[in-house]
Amino acid sequence: MRLGIIGFGNIATALLDQLSRGSDGPLEHLAVLCRPAAAEACAARLKAEFPGVAREVAVVTDAEGLIADRPGLVVECAGHSAVVAHAVPVLQRGVDVVVVSIGALADDAVERKLRAAAEAGGSRLVLPAGAVGGVDLLAALGAAGGLEVRYRGTKPPRAWTGTPAEEALDLAALDKAAIFFTGTAREAARQFPKNANVAATLALAGAGFEATRVELIADPEARGNVHEYEVVSPVANYSVRIENLPSAGNAKTSVSTIFSVLREIRNRIGPVVI
Ligand SMILES: NC(=O)c1ccc[n+]([C@@H]2O[C@H](COP(=O)([O-])OP(=O)(O)OC[C@H]3O[C@@H](n4cnc5c(N)ncnc54)[C@H](O)[C@@H]3O)[C@@H](O)[C@H]2O)c1
Repeated sequence: MRLGIIGFGNIATALLDQLSRGSDGPLEHLAVLCRPAAAEACAARLKAEFPGVAREVAVVTDAEGLIADRPGLVVECAGHSAVVAHAVPVLQRGVDVVVVSIGALADDAVERKLRAAAEAGGSRLVLPAGAVGGVDLLAALGAAGGLEVRYRGTKPPRAWTGTPAEEALDLAALDKAAIFFTGTAREAARQFPKNANVAATLALAGAGFEATRVELIADPEARGNVHEYEVVSPVANYSVRIENLPSAGNAKTSVSTIFSVLREIRNRIGPVVI
């Protein structure tokens, strides 16, 4: 496979680590898009830490460079700004893009741009399950209509520092679980953009940003990042609870996200899709 990766942070490097160890064999070609100031360090790190991951490796600094490398699939794992700057032009040029920064789609204008780019390019915008699971069933039930979705995101107090949770709670002094936000997935994503990915994924798969209800909780007893949601529909009812370990490189990112992205790649390499 010819793979393109946008971003070279925690998810990208953990992904390359998994691809290096896996039984899939080396990629035919790997192109990594990073910021110009980071290009030299990125190239050096690729050589030192991931020597066998691909037969050919290139570092590029813009979408044109990435497209010129003719990737069969591009994975965006950089951030909201990269979704607009890089994923949009890549989709427009007919290359499928897995967008990991799904929270970016809580902005209506960004979602419209991505959909229009994929339509114009005849490509696919792929939204992975990321840190949450059961999205297959949610998306399937969505087609039947009448969905009610309630999501609860619980993290240790320190994971909410630097967010509006600090205005509602004294995070450092918290001795029991406290709800600091109740609202729609759209409001949650707007107020907590760095923690918006799961609410956005559930909203996009199921009932939409306005109808998906969200509660955010700081809990000193929380073991990792806990995602729970209940679905009520005329076809089936179910509930999910996931206790995710935070990844070593970025406490905001759950380890399972990395494996979810790996699954998207493997499903395009192997003979079976699951
Ligand atoms: N879908 C999910 O469930 C889920 C879960 C966790 C994280 N995420 C998202 O995945 C993304 C990456 O997470 P991470 O833990 O790897 O973050 P990270 O901060 O470790 O890495 C991001 C990297 O991308 C680079 N970058 C940012 N903007 C860029 C741009 N415009 N062009 C080129 N490079 C750029 C940064 O310099 C950094 O090296 C974040 O947006 C995060 O919100 C999604």
